[in-house]
Amino acid sequence: IIRRVKPPVRAPNEEDKIKKDIQEIQDFKSDSIAEIEEFRIKFLGKKGLLNSYFVEFKSLDSTEKKNAGRLLNELKNLAQDKVEALKASSSKSSENIKINDISRPGDPINIGSRHPISVVKNRIIDIFSNIGFTISEGPEIEDDWHNFSALNLPEHHPARDMQDTFFIEKNPDFLLRTHTSSVQVRYMENNKPPIRTISPGRVYRNEAISARSHCFFHQIEGLCIDKDVSFADLKQTLEYFTTQLFGKSKIRLRPSYFPFTEPSAEVDVYWGLNNETDYKMTKGTGWLEIMGCGMVDPNVLENCKIDPNEYSGFAFGLGIDRIALLLHQIDDIRLLSENDVRFLDQFKSSF
Ligand code: PHE
Repeated sequence: IIRRVKPPVRAPNEEDKIKKDIQEIQDFKSDSIAEIEEFRIKFLGKKGLLNSYFVEFKSLDSTEKKNAGRLLNELKNLAQDKVEALKASSSKSSENIKINDISRPGDPINIGSRHPISVVKNRIIDIFSNIGFTISEGPEIEDDWHNFSALNLPEHHPARDMQDTFFIEKNPDFLLRTHTSSVQVRYMENNKPPIRTISPGRVYRNEAISARSHCFFHQIEGLCIDKDVSFADLKQTLEYFTTQLFGKSKIRLRPSYFPFTEPSAEVDVYWGLNNETDYKMTKGTGWLEIMGCGMVDPNVLENCKIDPNEYSGFAFGLGIDRIALLLHQIDDIRLLSENDVRFLDQFKSSF
């Protein structure tokens, strides 16, 4: 007859071992995360003591099981509670250590970046500040006089259509300024020549939104009024500017028309045709149109109570957005106003 061999009785022995372990658990103390983890693995880990006891537990007879089961449960609960408690107190004490340790490195701060429009605006401001231009600002909601009439654009003048305007519905005498020339009018009304000022700011035009145009953009306009200011002074100033901003000094002035300047010109800078990008940017001509300019019309000076027989001056205006697109090879103007962080992040290295 084949009999099943009864496993050796190990209960008393086993019980002693478990009791010893319980003692060990009760005595264990540590505030080191690594040590606590080591402890947890030793008792509660997959291959830990508790599991190995449970394997042996299966081969005990029922009376042995009763005792051993109670002890094993006690062991398990004790170990679990201990790990919880030690973890909680160690994280508290490590926080204390951190707070008191003034030499520890600071928390990482997410660094923002300047908007490409601000980057370009600041560069242009720097360039003109270096030759004595001040910065002037004015309201974005403007009256008809400062945006149009004072600038030699009387009511019903056809050139008002050059800039599609947003009028304030309730009172069409007010509008969103279409250029920062309005700031220059305000400046001339409040300051006596000699005047050298640039006016950066946001301007609005009622245009369809597309990759190349938007219903608002940013301008910097410049104004210089003094005795004997000539067209040659204007050209010198523009050459200085393009050399500083683009590293290119070759410019050309094409005759143009603005109601507030006479004569008027468009300024092109010679970019060159050295690579494919140059071809794309300049549409194969090598020349890039960057701004409008001219000698301030005597009517404008008179409107601002400056005697055109005594003083003369030049003015110019450029779009910051366009320059930002050019300098950074951005192909869609809408990116500049969407404020997508993934786009803005790319300008972190700019200043
Ligand atoms: N105000 C013009 C515009 O917005 C630019 C300009 C300024 C042209 C000064 C000539 C002189 O288009």
